[in-house]
Amino acid sequence: MSFCQGLRDCPSEIRRLRLRVATPADRSRVRAITLGADQELFAGTADSVFDEIASSSNSESHHPFVVECFETKAIVAFLVLREAGAMPSWACENAMTVHALRVDVAVQGRGIGRFAIMAAADWAISTRPSVRQLMLAVNARNRQALIAYLSWGFRDTGLIHDGPIGRQIILAFPLRSPLKRLSKR
Ligand SMILES: CC(C)(COP(=O)(O)OP(=O)(O)OC[C@H]1O[C@@H](n2cnc3c(N)ncnc32)[C@H](O)[C@@H]1OP(=O)(O)O)[C@@H](O)C(=O)NCCC(=O)NCCS
Repeated sequence: MSFCQGLRDCPSEIRRLRLRVATPADRSRVRAITLGADQELFAGTADSVFDEIASSSNSESHHPFVVECFETKAIVAFLVLREAGAMPSWACENAMTVHALRVDVAVQGRGIGRFAIMAAADWAISTRPSVRQLMLAVNARNRQALIAYLSWGFRDTGLIHDGPIGRQIILAFPLRSPLKRLSKR
């Protein structure tokens, strides 16, 4: 089944989606995730992301994920979590960082980006007990992504990073509230 066929057949209901670890075999299907012409600049190409992971000296600290439909196996979104030494200089030690998030333009605005981040947060909580927040850098010109992140619960850290394509705003998403930590003792 082609990717487009899969997308057409993929029900929009979020409950039919799952986040799973991506493998190098997913590269061509991640490449097929289409973005708007004005969006590609902000997310990087799939090939550049897979190449960077493969050539990294600590590739085990990069965790690529796809969001796919249970039934059709259509891949509708992609992101990478990084930890420890693979994180950028602006990241806090108690964080994992989010990179290269993209949702196919055909299904943007239907809650899939939010699902991807929430599922990634669940993965971080269950597998990395010491991690307290997700952090990411969003280009100041990427208003659509900035609005989405803030609506999902990310907060502006006030940090700015000057990246290769301009000013990046550093956002953070807390994974555990102090109240929850106290109640677990
Ligand atoms: C940013 C991105 C991942 C969001 O994914 P998405 O599946 O469209 O997001 P969702 O549907 O889960 O949420 C979008 C939110 O932004 C809001 N929004 C505001 N303007 C919007 C717009 N023009 N289009 C879509 N959503 C918009 C929606 O109301 C929604 O808020 P809500 O969750 O409170 O209802 C997606 O647009 C994308 O892939 N962009 C291109 C790549 C990119 O810029 N990646 C980010 C790199 S930092």
